[in-house]
Amino acid sequence: MTDHQASFEPIKDMSERLRDWHKVAGRHDLPWQHQGPYATWVSEIMLQQTQVSVVIPYYLRFMEAFPTIKTLAAAPQDRVLAHWAGLGYYARARHLHHAAKQVMAEFGGTIPQTLDALVSLKGIGRSTAGAIQSLGWKRHGVIQDGNVRRVLARLHAIEGDLLSTRVQSALWRLAETYTPTDGDDAAVHTQAIMDLGALLCTRHAPKCAACPLQRDCQALKDGRTHLLPTPKKTIAKPTIEWFVLGLRNSEGALWCSRRPERGIWGGLYCPPTGASLHTLLTECGLSVDIEWNEGPTLSHAFSHFSVYLRYVDILVADFELSGPGAWITPEAYDIGLPAPIKRLVGWD
Ligand code: ADE
Ligand code: SF4
Repeated sequence: MTDHQASFEPIKDMSERLRDWHKVAGRHDLPWQHQGPYATWVSEIMLQQTQVSVVIPYYLRFMEAFPTIKTLAAAPQDRVLAHWAGLGYYARARHLHHAAKQVMAEFGGTIPQTLDALVSLKGIGRSTAGAIQSLGWKRHGVIQDGNVRRVLARLHAIEGDLLSTRVQSALWRLAETYTPTDGDDAAVHTQAIMDLGALLCTRHAPKCAACPLQRDCQALKDGRTHLLPTPKKTIAKPTIEWFVLGLRNSEGALWCSRRPERGIWGGLYCPPTGASLHTLLTECGLSVDIEWNEGPTLSHAFSHFSVYLRYVDILVADFELSGPGAWITPEAYDIGLPAPIKRLVGWD
């Protein structure tokens, strides 16, 4: 990016045109809309790495189980994670749970309204805080998620890595310029610009002919919508192989233990899983010569690597096992198993 790009000429009437477009073409029936700051918060955390259609059923079940911040704060962590199982990125759920307790302890059970107070809560960054302020509290608040970044980068033909410090500060300045001061207007604007990004200004083949901002869009004028934002360099993901030790008792229950908080599937229950079958067996107190059957396999992609999971089926009796663990049955729905493990075990 060149230096003159550090300040951009704002588009006139941007918010008004967005609002008029949103009235007729935006999304008005998402279940977290107009339900207050707690609903906004939960939905925004779920939507950080997961798309709307996947989030909706999880969101509805989560809100049924934890209808208020108070119920969430009082819930055991296993139960919170169980309702997150399948959404991935479990640190999000642990942080949300932690932050709910913070709200109870430090803010008397009321979600705060200021940016400073909101970002003091675990898992809430500047953009999520802005969403809670605008969509949740209907006051001035500025967001900058992936959708907004893409729209702004195209409107102003901003080159380069959108997450670099330099581009970030330019994007935040633009986002602030465009967001109305009035709270109700800010709420509409926030939803409208996200919807524009999700519905029209899509990564591939944006529908510019329907866009209310087309006459001011620099990327469109330059015929470069397909080149902006600058694609991230993709790094090939390594694939590793993990064995999943399917220890079953005569009742069909599965031997699981709680995974450490840090790392993959943190805090979820899981059968012994790892690269060395020898180590897994030894850690459970089993002989490395025990008879086992090769079960189904499954490939699963994490953000930075992929795993090839090999299920190993072994029938065991209680007394043969040592180390921490518990017998889990499919009915124990308050225990969250990782989604690929559920699929591998045949419990999904
Ligand atoms: N992605 C993040 N927040 C969203 C919202 N409120 N509506 C739709 N998609 C979103
Ligand atoms: Fe995006 Fe096209 Fe609208 Fe520009 S004109 S903001 S590229 S949809």
